[in-house]
Order: sequence, then C-alpha cells, then structure tokens
Amino acid sequence: METLVVDHPLVAHKLTRLRDADTSSATFRLLAEELVTLLAYEATDGLIVRPVRVATPVADADGVALAEPKPLVVPILRAGLGMLNGMVRLMPTAEVGFLGMVRDETSLIASTYADRLPQDLANRQVFVLDPMLATGGTLVAAIELLLERGARDVTAICLLAAPEGIERVRSAFEGRPVTVRVVTAGVDAHLNERGYIVPGLGDAGDRLYGVV
Ligand code: URA
Repeated sequence: METLVVDHPLVAHKLTRLRDADTSSATFRLLAEELVTLLAYEATDGLIVRPVRVATPVADADGVALAEPKPLVVPILRAGLGMLNGMVRLMPTAEVGFLGMVRDETSLIASTYADRLPQDLANRQVFVLDPMLATGGTLVAAIELLLERGARDVTAICLLAAPEGIERVRSAFEGRPVTVRVVTAGVDAHLNERGYIVPGLGDAGDRLYGVV
C-alpha cells in the first residue's frame, strides 16, 4: 500500500488552522473543502484518461478526457460529507456514492448503516473520503465492501492519519491483487485510549457540524 503525505506549504497551513480548537465550524468547513481540493489534486494523478481530439479556434489539438466508467467518489458519512464539495470541485464529472459507517465508541468496531453504492464497481477508480484515519477499522471495512463489489483501485483521502491506522490498512490489503493508496495531509504521533488521533484535530464530525 502506498501512503502519500502531501508536503506543501498551503496544505500545512490549512491543516494547522483545522487543528486549532479556536477555529469555528464555519471556517473549519471551508478549510476542509480547500484542503481536500489540494489533496485530491495529488490523489488523482493516476486517473485513467482516453485520447480525444478537439478543435481549438485555431487548429485541431490532441488532448485527453476522463475514461469510462467514471471515477466514483465515496464520502463516508457523516464526516466525509464535509470533504465532498472540495473533491467534486476538482472532478465534477465523477459519480458519488454514499456509505454510512459508525464506530462503536467502546469497542471501536465499525458497522455499516447506509449503503448507496453501485452494485458493480468493476473497472472503477474509487476515491473514499474519510477525514480521520485513526484505528483504520472504518476504512478497512469500507474498502472491503468496495472490493466485494469489484473495485480494484481504491484511494482513500484523509485529512489526517495515525500510524496505527496506516498500518492496519496496509496489513489488511497487503499481498492482495488490489491497489490501495492513502493520501493525507499529515501523519500524527499516535492514538489515545479513546481512539483519537494525538495531537489530531478532535472529532472531525463535531468540528464540521457542531456537537449533536
Ligand atoms: N475520528 C475523529 O473524528 N477524530 C479522531 O481523532 C479519530 C477518529
């Protein structure tokens, strides 16, 4: 599994502002979208394209268009929703499927409560949006479901990751005939006893939408 930690001053700046407990939900939402667009630029560098020819006002030119089937973007509810606009801004023709996953705060085990994904994901490049790669339980469960539907090329875009989560995803898919990548703005020190990333940015869902 490839892990790409995007090293860019704007990425670092926006991540720092997301971490700041004084950043309001409104600003957090805006920053998260902007950060995702920057991460998505890196995460989509392997998009499959087909050659096309277009007529410019001056002459014909060779170019490319995104290949079919279209890439699929899958935000994991609820916090992944805060990353969707930033992703589709960059790739407006992508299709979007939704996956609702929740982790039990005691056992930290993830379960699915909503599945709005196509049944057949063969030949699809899939981009999973999940802000926090913490224990990795949610992401592994989500990717397993995508693989069951035939996906073979999955890129997870995470605002922040913990080494424990990266290791869990790596070991879950190592040696399997699939491409799994994680693209993130940073890898933090460790998880605390409640499964939160340290220093992290807190509960991404609460930071995005307020505590409910
Ligand atoms: N989920 C979050 O929102 N934050 C963490 O630090 C870990 C999991």
